[in-house]
Amino acid sequence: MKTLLTATALAALALPAFAEGDVEKGEKVFKRCKACHTIASEDEVIFKGGKTGPNLYGVIGRVAGSQEGFKYSKGLTEAAEAEFVWTEETLAAYSVDPKAWLGDNGYDPKSKMSFKLKKGGEDVAAYLASVGPVMEEAAPEAEAETTEEPAASE
Ligand code: HEC
Repeated sequence: MKTLLTATALAALALPAFAEGDVEKGEKVFKRCKACHTIASEDEVIFKGGKTGPNLYGVIGRVAGSQEGFKYSKGLTEAAEAEFVWTEETLAAYSVDPKAWLGDNGYDPKSKMSFKLKKGGEDVAAYLASVGPVMEEAAPEAEAETTEEPAASE
């Protein structure tokens, strides 16, 4: 029997263009983020941290600057207005230098995140993807829209 490959399945087969992160290493890297970031779903605290930065639960696949109740900088608010969606790749790049990332993408470059990650950006991005809701349950509407399938990385 011939199987029809959907666009989603094809996208999942495509290899990501950047080095894939290591989830276990990423969890260790996250210790450097926890001073300012918590990871918490509606009913579970996955990684208890500070509140200076937005909750990073489900951040991969989420529109930037869209965590409810958090007061973002102008740059991330502009990204939200442009409906920019975080991928593992862009989150890794952002973590290395938030200011530069905002500027390079045409947003106001005054970041409220005063932190630069030297290395391990891909790892922490893979970790954040692994604890997000996308991996646990594939939401039907996400399936229809997503072009970058985090499910492909294990
Ligand atoms: C010193 C505090 C601090 C540390 C440490 C920190 N952040 Fe942040 N982070 C922030 C703040 C504040 C913001 C909001 C930035 C803005 O509005 O410009 C932010 C925003 C973000 C965003 C955008 C979220 C969204 O909703 O669009 C991501 C992604 C992020 N941080 C990832 C990380 C990662 C990964 C690390 C660790 C490698 C980290 N941060 C470490 C304070 C911090």
